[in-house]
Amino acid sequence: MRVVRSVEEVRAQVRAWRKAGQRVALVPTMGNLHAGHISLLQLARQRGDRVVVSIFVNPLQFGPEEDYARYPRTLDDDIRMLEEAQCDLLFAPGVDELYAEGGSQRTLVSVRGLSEILCGVVRPGHFDGVATVVAKLFGVVGPDVAVFGEKDFQQFRVVQLMTRDLAIPVEVVGAPTVRADDGLALSSRNRYLSAEDRSRAPAIYRSLQEGAARLRAGERDFSAIEQAGAALLAAAGMKVDYYAVRDADDLALPSSATREFVLLAAARLGSARLIDNLRVPVG
Ligand code: PAF
Repeated sequence: MRVVRSVEEVRAQVRAWRKAGQRVALVPTMGNLHAGHISLLQLARQRGDRVVVSIFVNPLQFGPEEDYARYPRTLDDDIRMLEEAQCDLLFAPGVDELYAEGGSQRTLVSVRGLSEILCGVVRPGHFDGVATVVAKLFGVVGPDVAVFGEKDFQQFRVVQLMTRDLAIPVEVVGAPTVRADDGLALSSRNRYLSAEDRSRAPAIYRSLQEGAARLRAGERDFSAIEQAGAALLAAAGMKVDYYAVRDADDLALPSSATREFVLLAAARLGSARLIDNLRVPVG
């Protein structure tokens, strides 16, 4: 695996692959890789001849009170995992390489509406930071296809919409959430959980399964389902940001046009913020 840090190097390599008729797949990450990321890489390998993984802890998507400074940076371990998973190229730029003048960025990409609901309420500006860095990575790498985890479902929809609205010629593909045996979705932030909180954390997935069972059974009292889900999270000791039933297409409130529901939950447990979701086709 080649490891490059500059925009120039990644562009030159991708140009050479393209010239040889190869299709390039990108997996954007913030590092601290786990089995969930490796599943993205495996999907990327099915979709492209060459796989580029980026590791960049993007300051623009963290609020002033958030965990940018303490976000786990484990580059040596990440490189070992990527080599084992047969990644072709790791792009690991420093902040100055992507944001000139010590991290400033005058141009922001904002997916209006979709960025201001759910996680966007609790993390104002977060999705502008995500959309901006992903647009930038698309501009730098120029992949044919890019793979994102569906665990961050709102992020996935923001990236899809941004790519469509800006007519960026990249196919955006979602990869299913990878879970621990007890159902907890894998996330780099799970390492913030104490042993006690780790044992409570699977309640988030259980709450989604219970909500999903009610939807599958034909219940359409969405606010009753939301209240029950939030109560289950609170009973497990979590501070609930939201528990919502939405249309999986646009994350709007479900309507008669909804073909698939998505249950989304976000809650704080100790110093970790957990998010998860579950999709339920309308029967
Ligand atoms: O999901 C992540 O790891 C990040 O939000 C992403 C997509 C790499 C953008 O920084």
